[in-house]
Amino acid sequence: MNGLFITIEGPDGAGKTSILKELFPLLKKVAKTEMIQTREPGGIPIAEEIRQVILDPKNERMDERTEALLYAAARRQHLVEKILPALKEGSIVLCDRFVDSSLAYQGAGRRIGMREIARLNEFATEGLTPDFTLYLDVDSDTGLHRIQKNRQNQIDRLDSEGLEFHQRVRHAYLKLAEEYPERIHKIDARLSFEEVLQASYYAIIEKYPQFFEN
Ligand code: TYD
Repeated sequence: MNGLFITIEGPDGAGKTSILKELFPLLKKVAKTEMIQTREPGGIPIAEEIRQVILDPKNERMDERTEALLYAAARRQHLVEKILPALKEGSIVLCDRFVDSSLAYQGAGRRIGMREIARLNEFATEGLTPDFTLYLDVDSDTGLHRIQKNRQNQIDRLDSEGLEFHQRVRHAYLKLAEEYPERIHKIDARLSFEEVLQASYYAIIEKYPQFFEN
């Protein structure tokens, strides 16, 4: 695989989506090769359809393992249809969420267990891991506060979970960042938008001079 696979992760309310909106064009400008942005769950039609099912507030009866399987199924299709072909062509892929989200949300948040979710995702990804992961860290109080304040769009099934769920998610992320310090770069997302953006940008371009002009 000649390309570069970068993911961005964080609990709800970390500001991932707004950071990505600015970060992607900045990186694309200095990228030495083709660069695409995509997201999970979704990124291609089959996975976007699965996303609708997972996040629909009316599906409150969904079993936790069903949820984990649907995320893994969406991930598999997205990987095969979009991520792998791009990486094979040597492109840079910037993906909003990947396996770490399932480890944190389904493994810890839903309490299925991170090991079980890792096994499920091994199957879905055949062991493909990102080269680099930006983790935007925010405490659950601040995160939830931001969601309530900023969300004009509808609250989805996971956003409506309580404080303890979000705390478990965050602790799982912190644990992963500790376990994989080479891959996961933690950024304090309570800093100002500009600071988070700068930190994200430089973390990537400094680590991969072969892919980005500096
Ligand atoms: P996303 O659209 O990225 O929401 P946000 O912009 O709030 O980060 O993700 C939607 C929700 O899906 C989010 O609450 C996290 C959740 N999710 C999982 O629970 N497991 C997963 O594997 C993925 C990819 C997302």
